[in-house]
Amino acid sequence: MQIGTITLANNLVFAPLAGISNLPLRLLAKEAGCGLVYSEMVSANGLVYGAAKTHQLMNSTPEEKPLAIQIFGSDPTMMADAAQIAASAGADMVDINFGCAVKKIVKTGAGVALMRTPDRAAALLRAVRDAIRVPLTIKIRSGWERGGEQAFDLLRIAEASGVDAVAIHPRSASQGFRGQADWSLITALKAATTLPVIGNGDVQCAEDAVRMLSQTGCDAVMIGRAAIGNPFIFGEILELLAGRRPVPADAAARLRIMRRYVVDSVNYLGERPACLMMRSRLGWFVKGLHGCSAFRESIKKLESLEQALERIDGYEKVLMDAARNYSGMATL
Ligand SMILES: Cc1cc2nc3c(=O)[nH]c(=O)nc-3n(C[C@H](O)[C@H](O)[C@H](O)COP(=O)(O)O)c2cc1C
Repeated sequence: MQIGTITLANNLVFAPLAGISNLPLRLLAKEAGCGLVYSEMVSANGLVYGAAKTHQLMNSTPEEKPLAIQIFGSDPTMMADAAQIAASAGADMVDINFGCAVKKIVKTGAGVALMRTPDRAAALLRAVRDAIRVPLTIKIRSGWERGGEQAFDLLRIAEASGVDAVAIHPRSASQGFRGQADWSLITALKAATTLPVIGNGDVQCAEDAVRMLSQTGCDAVMIGRAAIGNPFIFGEILELLAGRRPVPADAAARLRIMRRYVVDSVNYLGERPACLMMRSRLGWFVKGLHGCSAFRESIKKLESLEQALERIDGYEKVLMDAARNYSGMATL
């Protein structure tokens, strides 16, 4: 899979997820086999005005490369400056958000609002393209309203503006995350454009990803929600694509990545913010395991790295005891 000058190891992509796809989680996705990771969406205004928290969203390490940094905004000059800042900070690609349907963003003319203002979208893409040398990608929805006409218009503009690839989440702005992603629109858009197409929306398991590739003809698959807490999905898709039957991750593997997530979060975010974040997030990794509710309860007041690792050790013991007692039922 080639995007502009960048060759990806494979065609599996971890989606941008605001407030979620931070560096520690992206590293897990990468380690599990994902070929390209996206940052959370980053405010162009925040970058240009030097907001420290906004700049932190671009923190990266060599192990997660290549990294696409996604920026959002509606002013062409501001977006061009922000794209330059992102490229200087080490973005291997810059992505522009044409899909966010959150009111606060849409109100400013950014995100999916750009899909109903094609002249502004064209000016913005031209300005950003002129400002950076790294590949430029866009992530779009089907449009403001159902139907998808705006997606076809935008792809024509993108081709003419030197965009290198497009990720498509085929739901309209008004749908939010309701209903089903309309994969037939990915098929139609792929047939209508020369750009590499990254299909996205409702891939929940490895089989879905393979089905999306074969059914729509898209060049790559982007996964968001299903990879949160389950980065193993990327390895499972690679197995399936190689003609092998994927072996689901067992409890030992899940505990291993949890420990890694905890340590990386403390290293990259600082102990206090990492602990506050982990209070709700460690629960992602134990979904469906024996005793997961009690474990979730036990991490609600995490205060330190040491405590987090202790809770995970304790939970491992619970799982091992359960495995001894109920051999055949438990997975450890
Ligand atoms: C919590 C959350 C945050 C998201 N943040 C972003 C974002 O920052 N930028 C973006 O382009 N899309 C964002 N999305 C949309 C996802 O990237 C993706 O398009 C959508 O979830 C559909 O894919 P999925 O079914 O694999 O989750 C977000 C979605 C969720 C659920």
